Amino acid sequence: MAAITGPLSGDARNTVVEALQGALVDLIDLSLVAKQAHWNLIGSHFRPIHLQLDEVTELARTHMDTIAERVVALGGNPDGRAATVARSTKLPQPEGGWLDDGKVVATVTDTLDGISRRMYERIRATDEPDPVSQDLLIAVAQDIDKQHWMFQAQR
Ligand SMILES: [Fe+2]
Repeated sequence: MAAITGPLSGDARNTVVEALQGALVDLIDLSLVAKQAHWNLIGSHFRPIHLQLDEVTELARTHMDTIAERVVALGGNPDGRAATVARSTKLPQPEGGWLDDGKVVATVTDTLDGISRRMYERIRATDEPDPVSQDLLIAVAQDIDKQHWMFQAQR
């Protein structure tokens, strides 16, 4: 088995990999719940929200790859399996069927708020052990906070 060695070891590596794995699960599930809402949305504000939800999916997909590849560069193994995401996600899950546009704006706003708070915790946790990973998490938080603002503005 190939073993990848990175710049960190021991507790520092474990702390950083754990933070990145948490971010990975948040981002994968964000891409899933945003697509679910993108497809099942209904209401008089359908069009702009339908399109904005795809911006969220795109953001999540872009960052999830960066985060997962940082885990590998540190010698860890990112776990993006559906079962892992289902077991460990903290995101509120959308109901099946049609999703009212007003409710979607409210729940996506709350979802982005929760992700932002967890990203800030991870930014603090990685500050000392790995400023490089911290930088990636800061970039995620920047984009999440921007979408959080834009969904809030539609309420
Ligand atoms: Fe689409």
